[in-house]
Amino acid sequence: MDVAAPVRLAAGIRAPRRPDPCAFVIFGASGDLTKRLLLPALYNLAAGRLLPDHFALVGVARADWSDDEFRRQMRAALAEFATDGTEAETLDGLIGRCRYVRGDFDDASTYRRLKDRLGDIARTLGTGDNCLFYLATPPDLFAHVARLLGEAGLASEKNGPWRRLIVEKPFGFDLQSACRLNGELLRFFAESQIFRIDHYLGKETVQNIMVLRFANGMFEPIWNRHHIDHVQITVAETVSVENRGRLYDHTGALRDMVPNHLFQLLALTAMEPPSCFEAYAVRAEKLKAIEALHPLSKEAIAADVVRGQYVAGSVRGKPIAAYRDAAGIAPASTTETYVAMRLSIDNWRWAGVPFYLRTGKALAARKTEIAIKFRSAPLALFRDMPIESLAQNLLVLRIQPDEGAALHFNAKIPGPDIHIENVRMNFKYEDYFDVAPSTGYETLIYDCMIGDQMLFQRAIDIEAGWRAVDPILEAWRRAEGRELCLYQAGSEGPAAAGRLMTRSGQGWRPIA
Ligand code: BG6
Repeated sequence: MDVAAPVRLAAGIRAPRRPDPCAFVIFGASGDLTKRLLLPALYNLAAGRLLPDHFALVGVARADWSDDEFRRQMRAALAEFATDGTEAETLDGLIGRCRYVRGDFDDASTYRRLKDRLGDIARTLGTGDNCLFYLATPPDLFAHVARLLGEAGLASEKNGPWRRLIVEKPFGFDLQSACRLNGELLRFFAESQIFRIDHYLGKETVQNIMVLRFANGMFEPIWNRHHIDHVQITVAETVSVENRGRLYDHTGALRDMVPNHLFQLLALTAMEPPSCFEAYAVRAEKLKAIEALHPLSKEAIAADVVRGQYVAGSVRGKPIAAYRDAAGIAPASTTETYVAMRLSIDNWRWAGVPFYLRTGKALAARKTEIAIKFRSAPLALFRDMPIESLAQNLLVLRIQPDEGAALHFNAKIPGPDIHIENVRMNFKYEDYFDVAPSTGYETLIYDCMIGDQMLFQRAIDIEAGWRAVDPILEAWRRAEGRELCLYQAGSEGPAAAGRLMTRSGQGWRPIA
């Protein structure tokens, strides 16, 4: 099986290398994330010979399992969730490296036993005592586990081996809780040891935004307010809240998607070229873009932010019950399942260029894209011809599905008269590259193992994201749901989101 693809970007820019020997410790090893994503990703890395020769996978969970039972469970998980089947030798190799430690995450004795076990593993499997601790636990345990790891001496790199902590989203609930969590993690782990995952950065097409912008000469000179009219960033989902009701009702679309995934797309689109392709330089430029977002006043929130919730409808012929009727949702819930907003970036490149963001569940189609609309050409040349308006040039980066990019421009329809039509040049990844099936976690896990933090967020990045959305959360809290707009499941979203655009004579690109 060819799994070189997930790290192709890394491989193209820096020499691929085998990570140091290490133990990959998963807290929450009996959970869904481990089975569906982490283990299949580790398998793909093993098949691509991108795991170290001296490697151990250590599961920590409450389930009363032995090493053998853990191995049986992991084998079963791979039988179900491997992205492209498994091959016996790689599978046996990986499963043979699985070890299990049973224990409660809030019990200090779990960490003492883990420490002893990791010592044994270092001796028997040659992992050099390097450890990655992956927190695949409920978010309220993140700080707890980090503290107990620290108190057990497992965060310390003093005697040579490295220790890294991988944290999943949600990273906080608002600015205050994110700062608190950062403070708690940083008591025991240095920033250089913490890898905060945003799974959008594991997507090839998201990583490609930087390559498209900075490895081509033609885009950067026109990538600014002199040539760009506005930018539309869409993350549309067809899924409803499904069985996540209880959790989602306390989160909502804004917290769930905007300060993290949508802001990552915005930062990659808006950032200045970094001075080099290193984590410190790339992260610094992304942060500057987020920090330059114009702070939203109460009036701007009322005018430029739309909060929506779906009512019953159907998505591609499948009936969807209203959000409020889904399991675990409060009957009068005002939690949003859709959000759209108009933002501006206060810097020399972007002043005056609106960035429109929207994301929602139960929409007409699944589509993540960034559309860059260029300014109109002056009409002077075609003044005397029957042309009312020329379509504006458009560059669309399709993140998922149907990964690729398209450039829309005007062309003459063949014939004696001048008639102009908007046409499209379309690039599809699948036409050029063999993309091996992947979970999207391969690159992220590999980068943690080699210690490259480019695709991970620092405390300061997370806090900048929350700082930008906190005023919206506060305004909504005060409005007590009065601003909520309903939209039908399976539609393009609330009408008010359309009006955000039509106000400036523009329109959203259709989702379906
Ligand atoms: C997660 C959100 O972070 O991203 C989910 O919590 C959302 O609500 C998911 O469905 C979307 O990810 P993707 O990769 O399917 O676009």
